[in-house]
Amino acid sequence: MAARMLAHDQDALVEGPTINVNSELGRRAVVQTAAVPWSPSPWIPGINRKFLDRYGNGQFVPSTSVVSFASGVRDPYHAHPHGEEFYVLSGVFTDHTGDYLPGFYVRHPMRWCHAPYVDPQNDDAVLWVKVSQVAEEGEPIIVEDTCDLDLSEWEDAPSTSGRIRRRPLHTSQRTGERVWIELWEPGTENLVTQPAGGEEVFVISGSLLENGVAHPALTWIRNPPDGEGKCWARSAPEGCKLLMKSGHLPMVSKLYEQAKDGSLFSSSVLQYREGERIHGSAHGVDVRRRKRELETPPR
Ligand SMILES: [Fe+2]
Repeated sequence: MAARMLAHDQDALVEGPTINVNSELGRRAVVQTAAVPWSPSPWIPGINRKFLDRYGNGQFVPSTSVVSFASGVRDPYHAHPHGEEFYVLSGVFTDHTGDYLPGFYVRHPMRWCHAPYVDPQNDDAVLWVKVSQVAEEGEPIIVEDTCDLDLSEWEDAPSTSGRIRRRPLHTSQRTGERVWIELWEPGTENLVTQPAGGEEVFVISGSLLENGVAHPALTWIRNPPDGEGKCWARSAPEGCKLLMKSGHLPMVSKLYEQAKDGSLFSSSVLQYREGERIHGSAHGVDVRRRKRELETPPR
C-alpha cells in the first residue's frame, strides 16, 4: 500500500459503531493487558492496539491503550485535539522532537501535531498511551526519563515496610490531576488510602499484590472517585515499578460528555491553521547514556 494512501490510526471507528471499553468511569476496572489479544489497526499495517478504556465514536475520543508499532512503521502527520500521554515500555519511538526510549514518560498538550515512527534499525516499540485526556489549554510539554535514578526529583514516600521511591511527573491545580512514578523495592508493603478524584495504577514491571490479589506486569487498574478514602493493602514481594494517576476522572468524565460529538476529536491537522498547531522542539533529554546501556549486551 502506498504511503500516501494511509490514513491515521483509529479512523476505522469514525463511521462505524461506537466502541466503548470500560467506559463506565464510576466502576472499578482491572485489565491484565498481557492476556488481551492484539487488535490490528485496519488502516496502518504494523500498528496493533489493546484498548483498556475507550469512549465514543470518533478518531481521537478518550482512550487508554497499549499500542505496538512495528519496526519501520510511520504514522502519518496528525493532530491530537486533546493531547496525548505515553510511556515507552520497549523499543524506541521517534518523532521530529527526538528518540523516546524505554522508561520515557511524555505528555503533549492540546493541538499537538506530529508524524511519529519507529526507525527500521530499531526494534518494535510498545507504549502505554492515553489519547485525548487533556482538557485545559496551555498545559506544558513534559518529557521525563524515569529510568534516570540520579535526578533530584526522586523522593522517598511513606511505606509500612521496605522502601518506595516516588517521582512526580505532572500536577495540575486546575484539574486536580496528579501523575507520578513509584519504585517499590522487593518486600515493600504499604496501606494506601485512595485519593480523591479516582486513581489509576499501571504495573510497568514486577508484580503488585493488592488486598491479596496479584497483579502482574502490564496490569491496569482504575478505581472510581466514590472509592475515595478506601484503604488498599498493597505489597510487592519481588518489587515493582508503577505509573500512577489520581484526581483526573472528573475531568475525563467531562471529556466523555464532549466525545458524544466525535467531530470534536478529529485527528485531522486541517482543523487548525498552521500557527495553531503545536510541534514543540527537540525534547532535550540526553539519551546517549541510555542508548549505550541498551546497546550493551547483558553479561
Ligand atoms: Fe500521535
